[in-house]
Amino acid sequence: MSKNTTTAADRARPVDRQKAHEIQAFGHLIHLPNALSQNAASQSVENLNQVLADTITLRDLYKKHHWQVAGPTFYQLHLLFDKHYEEQNDLVDTIAERIQMLGGITLAMAADVAETTIIPRPPKGREEVPVQISRLLHAHEIVLEEARSMARQAAEAGDDGTNDLLVSDVIRGNEKQVWFVSEHLVDVPLVKAD
Ligand SMILES: [Fe+2]
Repeated sequence: MSKNTTTAADRARPVDRQKAHEIQAFGHLIHLPNALSQNAASQSVENLNQVLADTITLRDLYKKHHWQVAGPTFYQLHLLFDKHYEEQNDLVDTIAERIQMLGGITLAMAADVAETTIIPRPPKGREEVPVQISRLLHAHEIVLEEARSMARQAAEAGDDGTNDLLVSDVIRGNEKQVWFVSEHLVDVPLVKAD
């Protein structure tokens, strides 16, 4: 094989299976010129990673229930659960990108999320609608409780951007979903009034 032929072949070959050291270790903060103290940024990154793990878990709980729902309200709940899944998915991206813009590193992979979330793990099997909804409401309440306390911490530390994200996106979004889902557990007659 001539030198020219070898060079042409090499140029077309993908340089795959490359390895190198990480450029930033998890838990290590990069300082960005955003006029925030290192303490404020690092507290927000830690809090946001917790709410990220719980939001990913709640998002996935909605998809599980979207697939596994059963019974006469199947169609409406199938659609509602998927709508809430999409909204939680948007939240996941908003929270994760905030972590990166603060100089931190987002949790991303399922195993790391599973280690971090405080939302109880559901069974692999299917459950009745009232149980599915109770699980969702419990998960929402966990997120809301932590997000409110994290929002106050961010405000006190001067991280208004994180405070706004937690209040405007996480808290308001979760409160609205709680309303929509809760109403399905109100025991009102379906056909004949009491
Ligand atoms: Fe679907």
